[in-house]
Amino acid sequence: MFEDGQVYSPVTEHRDGTVQVHLADNHPGRDDPDYLARRGQIAAAALTWDRAVGEPVPTIGYTEDEHEVWRTVSAALAEAHARHAHPEYLAAKAALGLPADRVPQLAEVSERLAPLTGWTYIAAPGSVPLREFYGDLRQRTFSSTQYLRHASQPLYTPEPDIIHEVIGHGNGLASERFARITEAAGQALTRMESEEAAKLVADVFWFSMEFGVIYEAGPSGARELKAYGAGILSSFGEMEEFREMEIRDLDLADMGTLNYDITQYQPILFAAQDLGHLEDVVGDFFATADDDACARLRREAEDRGLVPE
Ligand code: TRP
Ligand code: FE
Repeated sequence: MFEDGQVYSPVTEHRDGTVQVHLADNHPGRDDPDYLARRGQIAAAALTWDRAVGEPVPTIGYTEDEHEVWRTVSAALAEAHARHAHPEYLAAKAALGLPADRVPQLAEVSERLAPLTGWTYIAAPGSVPLREFYGDLRQRTFSSTQYLRHASQPLYTPEPDIIHEVIGHGNGLASERFARITEAAGQALTRMESEEAAKLVADVFWFSMEFGVIYEAGPSGARELKAYGAGILSSFGEMEEFREMEIRDLDLADMGTLNYDITQYQPILFAAQDLGHLEDVVGDFFATADDDACARLRREAEDRGLVPE
């Protein structure tokens, strides 16, 4: 996924064809020359891929170490998903049937999604411009990075990687209900004329499809909080902690204007009462909002003192 150009490490293409990836100070791979070189190679594959002429998405020859990271994280996440993921996500994940023992190619993810919801995965070197990323969502096309997180810190990474894109987002996109909300987010952002309105849509997406939670009746009838946001579902560490965070009710004005730090566990989350409630509030907003609706939400947030005027 992509939010605002800061989520992914910047990439520089040199004239000799090599690509340099600039990792932030807190990135665990920052001082590992082999990791940096590998990130450059994988970014180069996406950069030289010519989407316009309909070339197949690049295939990456993953190393045994990379497969091992996938295996370790897949196993840890599977165990955590069983306890913390929303049943709609769990059912979609089972239907998609991604491998747990090796990194899948993006083409394989698309092949598996095709009969379920028709989503296509395409390669991105890192950040994709906001309007491009959402313009693709509108066509049920998902821009995905292809590199893996650094092996030293598999259970939380400060930057989305293929584990986040495929295990976090891809499994959810195998559900028609989550697929429709995501597609509608693409339609919504594309509909917005002002950048301010577009940003509000991206922020509602952040607090829903990236970091959203839903109440669900447990076996004893007690309501339990479950995760459906891809950013929680790809992070073992975050799954163990989201119930400790401040949980607010779905609130478009709040979600669309609240500031957040993309490199930390999210301290404030928004919960839907159930999946239908998410569709009614967030899905409907994506399906119908225009620039005026976004401006009204922003004014509402100001009136309620949610944002400094
Ligand atoms: N923490 C996530 C993980 O471990 C990856 C991630 C970092 C992320 N920054 C993000 C996901 C921003 C979504 C949005 O998988
Ligand atoms: Fe994402």
